[in-house]
Amino acid sequence: MTSKKNVLEVKNLQAWFGKFHAVKGVSTDYPEKSITAIIGPSGCGKSTYLRCLNRIHEEVPGARSSGQALLLGQDIFAPEVDPVELRQNIGMVFQKPNPFPALSIFENVVVGLKLQGIKNKAKLLETAERCLRKAALWEEVKDKLHQQGTSLSGGQQQRLCIARALAVNPPVLLMDEPTSALDPIASAKIEELMQDLKEDFTVIVVTHNMQQAARVADYTSFLMLGELVEHGPSEIIFTNPKQSKTEDYITGRFG
Ligand SMILES: Nc1ncnc2c1ncn2[C@@H]1O[C@H](COP(=O)(O)OP(=O)(O)OP(=O)(O)O)[C@@H](O)[C@H]1O
Ligand SMILES: [Mg+2]
Repeated sequence: MTSKKNVLEVKNLQAWFGKFHAVKGVSTDYPEKSITAIIGPSGCGKSTYLRCLNRIHEEVPGARSSGQALLLGQDIFAPEVDPVELRQNIGMVFQKPNPFPALSIFENVVVGLKLQGIKNKAKLLETAERCLRKAALWEEVKDKLHQQGTSLSGGQQQRLCIARALAVNPPVLLMDEPTSALDPIASAKIEELMQDLKEDFTVIVVTHNMQQAARVADYTSFLMLGELVEHGPSEIIFTNPKQSKTEDYITGRFG
C-alpha cells in the first residue's frame, strides 16, 4: 500500500477566547485527496478549530491560539505568512452563507481571482461557470449573473459561497456545516460535490449529520469539550470506536 502524503499536519493546536480554553491540544494529519469529518456536541470547539486553520479566530478581540499547522510543510502561523494570502490556500465555507453584499453573483465567484490579479474576462467567465456548475448552482443563476449575490435564497447563497471558495483552487477546503441551510436535494448535491472535490482538494468538514459523515468522510474526528477524543477511519469510528465516549455520542446516548 502506498501511503498518501499529508497536505496539512496540525500539531497541538490550542485556542482561547480570553481565559476560556476552547480547543485543547488537537493534533491531526490530513492526507491528500481525503475528506475528514469533525463531529461532536454543540459548543465543543469545532468551528473554533476550523477558524484557527484559516486564521480568522485570531481576529476575534481577546482570542488567541498556539500550536502548529503545517500546510505542505510550512507553518501557517509563522510571522511571515500573510493571512489574506493563506485564505487562498485554505479556503472556508461557513455555517451561515456570507456572500459579499455589494457584489453580483458573478463577481462573488471571481473575487479571489481578481485579488490574484487575473483580469481576463473570458478566463473569469469560464471559471465562474465551472465553479457554479460544481456547486450545483449554475442552472439557477445563469440568466442573472449580474444580480446581487444577496438576492439569492439562503441555500443558493451557500452554494454561491462554495463556488467562491472553489474558484481559487485551494489545496485545503474547510467547510463548517455547509449543508445545514440546504434542502435535502441541494444537500445531496453538495455531498456529491464533496466526493468530486477530494480528487483535487483536502476537505475538512464539520457536520452534525452522522449519516453524512459516514457517507462522505474517509476519516472522522470526534471532539468533546475542546479535546480530540478519537480520530480514525470513518468506518471504525462509526462501527467500532475505541473510546466509550465516542460510542455514547454516535449511538445518541448523549450530545
Ligand atoms: N466569540 C466568542 N467569544 C467567547 N466564546 C466563544 C466565542 N465563540 C465561541 N465561543 C465559545 O467557544 C466554545 C466553542 O464554540 P464553537 O463555536 O467552536 O463550537 P461548535 O463545536 O462549533 O458548536 P456548534 O456545533 O453549536 O456550532 C463554546 O463554548 C462557545 O461558547
Ligand atoms: Mg459551529
